[in-house]
Amino acid sequence: MDPKPVRILFVCLGNICRSPTAEAVFRALAAREAPDLHVSIDSAGTANYHVGSAPDARAQEAARRRGYDMSGRRARTIEPLDFERFDLILAMDRSNWSALRHAAPRAARERVRLFLEYVQDTDVLEVPDPYYGGPNGFEEVLDLIEAASRALIRHLREQVRAA
Ligand code: 4NP
Repeated sequence: MDPKPVRILFVCLGNICRSPTAEAVFRALAAREAPDLHVSIDSAGTANYHVGSAPDARAQEAARRRGYDMSGRRARTIEPLDFERFDLILAMDRSNWSALRHAAPRAARERVRLFLEYVQDTDVLEVPDPYYGGPNGFEEVLDLIEAASRALIRHLREQVRAA
């Protein structure tokens, strides 16, 4: 029987730029580079501005150029059940981390982390919000998310090995 999947929720503000990108990138890299890992992945936003919308066209285009498709995603907000459903709730920046920690029941608080915590040898702990910036912002988001996804895959593999 397959082991229980590790359930991971990526969270940003609007759920149209960073967290859907993280969801698509992590899903693709885990499938390609760690097919032995069992993961279940979703994303959400802490704000409700864009609920029901497809990912930002600029984010989709930048992701597509690297081979990631997130066109089917529709934005949603975090909901109370998410704190029970997910093993890891990974915020893109400190502001979203803080909002999640406040919303989380005490028992779930330790599951709320900064996604970039998994990257070693860097001081960068936040994926910057690209919404009001130029196109380079979306490339930076992808660079950080690809590095953090690989670091998280490594971390999860070590956990499986140690179990
Ligand atoms: P995200 O980007 O949090 O990465 O989805 C944003 C999307 C929308 C807004 C801000 C950030 N907004 O202010 O509408």
